Amino acid sequence: MQTSLFEPFSLRNIKLSNRIVMAPLTRRRADNPALAADDMVALYYQQRATAGLIISEGSQISPQAYGYTGSPGCYTQAQMEGWKKVTETLHRAGGKIFLQLWHVGPFSHASLQPGNKAPVSASPVTPEGDVLTPDGRVTYESSRAMTKDEIFQTVKEFALAAQNAIKAGFDGVEVHGAHAYIIDQFIMDGTNKRSDEFGGSVENRARFLFMILDEILKQIPSGRVGLRLSPRSVKKGMEDSTPDQTYGYIVNKLKDYNLAYLHISEMMTPEMRMENPNHSIIPYYREIYNGTLISCGGHTLESANRMLENNEADLIAFGKPFISNPDLAERLRNNAELTPWDKETFYHGGSRGYIDYPMLQYTDI
Ligand SMILES: Cc1cc2nc3c(=O)[nH]c(=O)nc-3n(C[C@H](O)[C@H](O)[C@H](O)COP(=O)(O)O)c2cc1C
Repeated sequence: MQTSLFEPFSLRNIKLSNRIVMAPLTRRRADNPALAADDMVALYYQQRATAGLIISEGSQISPQAYGYTGSPGCYTQAQMEGWKKVTETLHRAGGKIFLQLWHVGPFSHASLQPGNKAPVSASPVTPEGDVLTPDGRVTYESSRAMTKDEIFQTVKEFALAAQNAIKAGFDGVEVHGAHAYIIDQFIMDGTNKRSDEFGGSVENRARFLFMILDEILKQIPSGRVGLRLSPRSVKKGMEDSTPDQTYGYIVNKLKDYNLAYLHISEMMTPEMRMENPNHSIIPYYREIYNGTLISCGGHTLESANRMLENNEADLIAFGKPFISNPDLAERLRNNAELTPWDKETFYHGGSRGYIDYPMLQYTDI
C-alpha cells in the first residue's frame, strides 16, 4: 500500500521521487592522500539512488576543517573530480544529492592541522574522547579561539566549497550547523565565551552562521542551499543554556533566507519515537518555520508516516538504516525486513560493510 512517504516532493525546482532522505553519514572511505572520493564511493552512493534525496557525508571545506581521517574534502581539484564521479554516477541512476559542507572545529588534532597548529573553535574547548591520528588514537587536546582573520577566511571557504559543489554537479549543498562542529560551537553559549562581535548575545553568536549563508548565497541560489541544525545538544559538555530561544532566534531569522530546507537532527531512538513522540522538538520548529522541514533521528516507517500525516515535517531522513539497506526506499515501500547494520564497519573496513550490503531480491513466480 502506498503511503505519503512515497509521494514525490518538489524541493523548489528539484523533483524528488519520494520523501525519503538519506542522512549525511561519514564513512571515512576516502583514505587516500588526496582525500578524494573514488569509484568505490561512487558505487556506494549509486546503490542508494532510490532515496528521494541523498545528503552526502560531511566534506571538509579546507585543510583546517579536517579532523576525521579518510573523510573526503571539497576544496581541491582532485577532490572535486572525485565528487564529480559520484554525482555523474548517481544522476545516471536517477538520484539527487546535496554535498554536506563541514568544518569540524575542535574535533581534530594538531597532527591533522596545517602547520601542526591546535584545532580551532569559538573559544578554547577540549572535546571528550579521542581522535584517530596518523600515530593512532590520542585524547583530544584543547582547541584555540579562531582569530577574526580565520573567521573571515572560513566564511569565504564555505562559499568556495559551495561553488565547487555546484560545478561538480551536486544538486545543492547542506551547511553543517549541527552536532557541536564549528558553526554550532559559535552558536552555543556553553562553548562560545568570546567578547567580540561573535560572542555574547544570540545575535552575535549566530553571526558566523549568517555570514556563511550570506556569502554562499552570493554564489549559488537559495533553492540549492539547506541547513542542518541540532537544537538539542548531542555532544557531552557542549550545550546551550536556552536552546529554544537560541535556535528559535536562528530559525525565525532563516525565514528571510528562503533556503531549500531546514534539517533538524535529533538524538532519538526508534523506541523514543514510538513511545514518547512528544519528546520531539519538530512540532515547535514546524510552528515557527514556514519552509521545507526535514526530520532526522530514530525514524521507522511508522514514525515517518505519522509525522508526514500530522504535517509535522515534509521529508524524513534515515541514517543508520541506509548504511545496511542500500534499497531502503524499496524495502520501506514493501514493508520488508531490514538488514541490521554492523557498527564495526561504520568508519573503516574498506569495501566490507560499505558496498556489500544486499539488495532485496524480487522473484517473479
Ligand atoms: C556512521 C555515522 C556517520 C555520521 N556522519 C554524519 C555526518 O557526516 N554529518 C552529519 O550531519 N551527521 C552524521 N551522522 C548523524 C546522522 O546523519 C543521523 O543524524 C543519525 O544517524 C541519526 O539518524 P538515524 O537514527 O536514522 O541513524 C552520522 C551518524 C552515523 C551513525
